[in-house]
Amino acid sequence: MCGIVGITGDPQAAANLIEGLRRLEYRGYDSAGIAVQQDGAIVTIKRKGKIQKLADAVDLDRMQSSCGIAHTRWATHGEPNQINSHPHVDGKVVLVHNGIIENFQVLKHALEEKGHTFISETDTEVLVHLVNDQYNGNLEEAVRRALKLVEGTYGIAVMHADEPDKIVGARRGSPLVVGVGDGFNVLASDVAAILAHTKQVIYLDDWDMAVITPEGVQTVDIDAQEVDKEIQEITWDLDQIQKGGYPHFMLKEIFEQPDTILDGFRGRVMPEAGDVKLGGLQLTDWELVNIRRIIILACGTSYHAGLVGEYLIEEYAGIPVEVEYASEFRYRSPIIDPGTLCLVISQSGETIDTLEAMREAKRRGAKVVGITNVVGSTIARETECGMYIHAGPEIGVASTKAFTGQTTILTLLTILLGRRKTISAEAGMEIIEDLQKMPDKIRSVLDQSAAIKEIAKVYKDHHNCLYLGRGINFPIALEGALKLKEISYIHAEGYPAAEMKHGPIALIDPNMPVVVISTRDSSYEKIRGNVQEVKARKGKIISIVTEGDEEITALSDHVITIPRCRAMLTPLLSVIPLQLLAYHIAVLRGEDVDQPRNLAKAVTVE
Ligand code: AGP
Repeated sequence: MCGIVGITGDPQAAANLIEGLRRLEYRGYDSAGIAVQQDGAIVTIKRKGKIQKLADAVDLDRMQSSCGIAHTRWATHGEPNQINSHPHVDGKVVLVHNGIIENFQVLKHALEEKGHTFISETDTEVLVHLVNDQYNGNLEEAVRRALKLVEGTYGIAVMHADEPDKIVGARRGSPLVVGVGDGFNVLASDVAAILAHTKQVIYLDDWDMAVITPEGVQTVDIDAQEVDKEIQEITWDLDQIQKGGYPHFMLKEIFEQPDTILDGFRGRVMPEAGDVKLGGLQLTDWELVNIRRIIILACGTSYHAGLVGEYLIEEYAGIPVEVEYASEFRYRSPIIDPGTLCLVISQSGETIDTLEAMREAKRRGAKVVGITNVVGSTIARETECGMYIHAGPEIGVASTKAFTGQTTILTLLTILLGRRKTISAEAGMEIIEDLQKMPDKIRSVLDQSAAIKEIAKVYKDHHNCLYLGRGINFPIALEGALKLKEISYIHAEGYPAAEMKHGPIALIDPNMPVVVISTRDSSYEKIRGNVQEVKARKGKIISIVTEGDEEITALSDHVITIPRCRAMLTPLLSVIPLQLLAYHIAVLRGEDVDQPRNLAKAVTVE
């Protein structure tokens, strides 16, 4: 998720483009760049780092222009550095892009055969070469022909040095909005960068293109057919926009999960073969089949995702897995024997405990594979290979969409390993079909946010809370407890439900809320027994149940229902109500959920 902006007909174009980027910084902030048209040429400046670095490098007097485009990056292909940052240029064409070009390797080879040479590691550079390759005196025509060859998602803005004051935009899968002005027009990833100039906007839909000049806006589709677009009035203020209309980044990120999970498996599942391809993994089938043992290293929420991975990989790929608190692993004398693969999970890619544990594993001869959200992060750079979760920037300190993103990647890895062991093509097809239905199922749980808030009102003043789960839902109990702890400051603990009678049951009384993840799976009878144990001691029971459940519903004080789904995919659903419950309790207690006390988004100190 990057931020793009373009403006034409504005004598302060360079200054306003940088201001526009500042307003899009929440979309990505690892590098930025700007390009303006000046005297029949294109002037481009790019810098690694936050937008201030770019602003410091831009001499506005020397960047006088009335037309330009700019970009703030959230790297997906190629680590954050000046060469990989946008805008990308080929000849007289310059382009900024938000999205992922899935078939960029194929297109790149074809262009190299035509003599094109590439300087960056990005998918986007291929796009600007493609447009230039198709150029024949009309920019929108060239963009249209180029996009016909592209697979993937894009929101783009393009200029040509020979076509002054014209910007061509197009979208498929990534947002793009036109700001309609008087004598000027704007193009941006969202209205945050438009609001300062006009409240009149046109929201482009997939396959739409827009050609903006100072005089006007023309909207056509990818087949050059005129499309009538309604001009709408923006009613939000900036803070609202950056949070997408949500009161907090955490809630926005919770509601982004149907899309971020889709982005997590987009281009990685092969439904027709019932298999998965993980380009970043760079392990041969022989190496995959000969993995003898997997050690997962992580901290916090990432550790909980690792625990879900343990259940999945052992159950469906038959490989022994150990999940280690990274901070403990590095000070023990871990045994790393041949055939040991270390999976290093970290949203930020900068957590020092995880980083050092990874280095220790490498020193002891393990092959290390990363699962992270931040391209170019230290863990991404130091692991031999890995997978990005593509969840986009996670601003809220309490991790939510990164957890389901990591769990999605671990599910894909399980399918990949399992298909080389015990999972048949038919079974693989069924699992992938069910995985592709998860975004909609998650939406149906998100629709219960208001009802979950009513439950939160009942428990917001309690001082303790227990979370119970069995099997693959035990890590979800741990994650639910962590979410409540870190943003509401209520003491909470997650436990394997059967472990309760070995001690924690002593805590149960009418003042102890107990959240039980009791979805319909092979341990249903057992978890029902645990619910009865709590009820017998007058504990307050909040149950997460599968639709159509009656027995545990009858035993519970409050119930949150999730749709039926395959047992191995349950964590993607059962965690959502726990994220929302913690969020609503914290908000009702007046806490700052995005910046909770004592915490940091990336823990870079020991
Ligand atoms: C989770 O909400 C917390 N922010 C924290 O536990 C976090 O998961 C942990 O610090 C690990 O961070 P990482 O995934 O960036 O390595």
